[in-house]
Amino acid sequence: MTRDTPRDDSDEETPTDDPAARPATDGGSDVAAGADEVALDPWGSSTVSDYRKLFDEFGIESFDELLPEVPSPHYLMRRGVIFGHRDYRPVARALREGEDAAVLSGFMPTGDPHIGHKLVFDEIIWHQERGADAYGLIADLEAHSARGLSWDEIDEHARDYLLSLLALGFDPEEGELYRQSTNREVQDLAFELGSKARFAEFEGIYGFDGETSVSHMQSVVTQMADILYPQLDEPKPTVIPVGPDQDPHMRLARDVAARMRYFKVTEAYASFEANAAERDHLAAAYAALRDGEDDSPVRCAAAADWIEAEMAADAAHDSVVDKLRAAGKEPLRPRVRFLDRNATPEAFDALIEAIPGEKRRYEEHIDAFDMDRADAEDLAREVEVDHGGFGFMAPSSIYHRFMTGLTGGKMSSSVPASHISLLDDPEDGYDKVKSATTGGRETAEKQRELGGEADDCPVYELYAYLLAGDDDEFATEVYEECVGGERLCGGCKEQAAELMREFLEDHQEKREEMEAVLDDLDIDLDTDRRGVAGDGH
Ligand code: TRP
Ligand code: SF4
Repeated sequence: MTRDTPRDDSDEETPTDDPAARPATDGGSDVAAGADEVALDPWGSSTVSDYRKLFDEFGIESFDELLPEVPSPHYLMRRGVIFGHRDYRPVARALREGEDAAVLSGFMPTGDPHIGHKLVFDEIIWHQERGADAYGLIADLEAHSARGLSWDEIDEHARDYLLSLLALGFDPEEGELYRQSTNREVQDLAFELGSKARFAEFEGIYGFDGETSVSHMQSVVTQMADILYPQLDEPKPTVIPVGPDQDPHMRLARDVAARMRYFKVTEAYASFEANAAERDHLAAAYAALRDGEDDSPVRCAAAADWIEAEMAADAAHDSVVDKLRAAGKEPLRPRVRFLDRNATPEAFDALIEAIPGEKRRYEEHIDAFDMDRADAEDLAREVEVDHGGFGFMAPSSIYHRFMTGLTGGKMSSSVPASHISLLDDPEDGYDKVKSATTGGRETAEKQRELGGEADDCPVYELYAYLLAGDDDEFATEVYEECVGGERLCGGCKEQAAELMREFLEDHQEKREEMEAVLDDLDIDLDTDRRGVAGDGH
């Protein structure tokens, strides 16, 4: 499995879900913690028993730590429903500073849109309201090849996803809605990106094998293209809100985006190449030695001596000492380095021209002595874009928790009682909430005495994820009344059921209003496409 992302979060504290500090929303997922291992499979059944493991095992970072950097965060962020991210900082910064940013997510039209999809719709809309270019796409190629849906079924469901997205507030004048199959630019980009993706990594990342259909693989490069599509006009920080099951796609997209770049910018101390661990040693040696009495340069050989005398022997230790010895009298000098990855000769020459201050050209890299890293990144991107490259920034992602099914267990489109479809008759929605499993005690008496288990209650989740909306006070009140034993499940469910009925009535009314808006958009929802659906391999 490839992993480009530095796991620099690994020593951060894992978040504590202190119910006193804020209502917990993880639906009691800790119950099964430790029982099963975490596997992220975009096409498997996705349950996550312990979200904390995703931080340690996959390098997903905790969203909580970033929360203060997000301008007026969405309630899903405030309540920990959005629990993790990969590299969201550049997006948060762009939102704060009113700079360009984009948001994109995609939906496989395999069934009705339900309240789980609403989380993602809301995330897209929230970013759009804060000025991001917004995109919503129908993953019809993926549904056809990997899920075996016919084109007729796909057309029908596609319409429903788009109507709900519009009804919840997506502005189609400002944003873009598309389906994968008819977006020529996405197809072309997918083809380009395919040059930088290898079957061997599909095997490693997704478990593909000799039985996997070529169309399924094509749907993967299509998703890579979806993710980078917002940057076709211009590179910009882009966030992809998804469930953690999509993280393998994000890791691959980030890798592929980097492989498409003309130049890689790194920091270096001497003419030789060093990896990150070796660079740490070099930085330490340089910092220790450069403050000598005179202004004489720090020689590589002296740095080797210092490292041998002062630093613990680890893997990088021996290799960096060898490199320093070979460099001998060469002075150690910090610099930024531009490595040639895919640059055309013209772009390589243009970069040399454009670098300010002292620079040195080598066969496959250029060293610049008077630039900092950030300026170097900007310059590399600029030259790339001017010479026919894309200059992609690594796409970011945010991850939301999966909702617990109303019947306990997993919320699944194939079990109607477990979820509430956005198309459910409002009365059915009411009934489903009324018959939901709760975190209540066996008797009212016990409940008054011990309090309910809101953390393990699908009904509480409905409040936190949807019914309380932006009203934190209300969500906290439900939580505290529940765990304090003042709230009993009968009344609590009645209240939730009524709110659900109202929500569905209102949403469906808005959907109707959006029919005309959708018809005016240039999206073909009545394809006469022919073909044979894939069998999921
Ligand atoms: N694979 C996603 C799913 O299973 C759908 C999807 C396609 C997507 N392209 C995307 C999601 C781009 C996010 C970004 O639901
Ligand atoms: Fe759940 Fe409400 Fe019962 Fe508490 S009172 S366990 S939140 S249904």
